[in-house]
Amino acid sequence: MSATGCRGGAFPSYGPGMNETALTVHQTARPHGFPTPGHFAFVESALPEPAAGSALADNLYWSVDPYHREMMDDVPGGFALGAPLEGRTIGRVIASCTPRLAEGELVFHRQGWRTHAVVTPEEVRRLPRLEGVPVTAHLSILGGTGLTAYVALTRIARLKEGEDLFVSGAAGGVGTAAGRFARLLGAGRLVGSAGSAAKARHLEREVGYDAVFDYHDGPAADLLGKAAPDGIDVFVDNVGGEQLAAAVGALREFGRIVRVGTISQYNTPGAPQPRFDHADIVEKSIRMEGFLVRNHRDVQEELYDFAVPHLRSGRLAADETVVDGFEHIVDAFLGMLRGENTGKIIVRDRTQAAGTGSTPPAAVSGS
Ligand SMILES: NC(=O)c1ccc[n+]([C@@H]2O[C@H](COP(=O)([O-])OP(=O)(O)OC[C@H]3O[C@@H](n4cnc5c(N)ncnc54)[C@H](OP(=O)(O)O)[C@@H]3O)[C@@H](O)[C@H]2O)c1
Repeated sequence: MSATGCRGGAFPSYGPGMNETALTVHQTARPHGFPTPGHFAFVESALPEPAAGSALADNLYWSVDPYHREMMDDVPGGFALGAPLEGRTIGRVIASCTPRLAEGELVFHRQGWRTHAVVTPEEVRRLPRLEGVPVTAHLSILGGTGLTAYVALTRIARLKEGEDLFVSGAAGGVGTAAGRFARLLGAGRLVGSAGSAAKARHLEREVGYDAVFDYHDGPAADLLGKAAPDGIDVFVDNVGGEQLAAAVGALREFGRIVRVGTISQYNTPGAPQPRFDHADIVEKSIRMEGFLVRNHRDVQEELYDFAVPHLRSGRLAADETVVDGFEHIVDAFLGMLRGENTGKIIVRDRTQAAGTGSTPPAAVSGS
């Protein structure tokens, strides 16, 4: 469409059957503890109009993430009340007022939690068409989730072949990616923790973990001691709390702790901090390092080079729990916080559900 068909000119016609309204999720109140649907509202509006230099994207896949829970609190950079939220999403350009974004193109951007977004070329990433790879992989194993796991192992832990690894939160998006990548990178014994026996079984049978415990089954130090009786070299920590303390005890000399996240505390900020023997850090020459994936975007191309051939050969799979229907995005987010997902949780527009859309459906595991 030419710029004359954009805001200030004639409004573009989006084609037959196109929704005339857009839906946007707002946060309406700050939670104390666990959030509920009452902390959110779906707000209807007219379709936003792209102006010259921008394009209108119809969002098709949404990521809901643990960091959104942190952003719900009154923190610097957190969600504003009564305003559109941010989140990673994949949309299709349905009207363009810039030659740099073609209609039909799939773009990754951060205006999630809404059905439509006006985007500029600067704020989107054009998604490479990777034959044989489902689009959803750009939000899971090839997206920020997979990149987090890959950076954790290769840049922070600097995992060496044969080293033994413990991953907490092993059944989630980062945890499943970490397990699968660690296997491909030649890890030794691979131990994980998860929130149910069914998840533990899935990780052992499908993902490549050697031993997984349900962290509800007793003190973490005892459970980890049984699963990794000879100790560990690396701990990839998605959870924090008691499991972090247990890992300090289980780490061998020159062990590394990769602090990825602290999900055990996002809904219980007053929870006691983990207690461990600080002398262990010195005596065992342990290195503990945290990181934010946004500071490692330069590794994205390397992740494609590493993971895509394995995805195509079947040696690697994207673990995903896909929820159909934008109207379920809040439920999907709350369900993820409660542990209802296995692998990365993704919300999918109904038009993309298996057999109904032109975009290839994801290889779904989990629910
Ligand atoms: N540093 C970074 O840049 C970065 C980037 C992405 C993610 N992260 C962090 O990585 C972690 C995993 O993120 P993700 O996106 O892969 O989410 P996820 O693991 O797919 O989903 C969250 C999982 O956390 C588990 N959980 C909830 N409450 C828990 C508790 N009290 N104790 C232990 N586990 C609990 C649940 O599984 P169970 O059934 O096993 O309890 C749930 O499925 C989070 O801490 C997140 O903040 C960090």
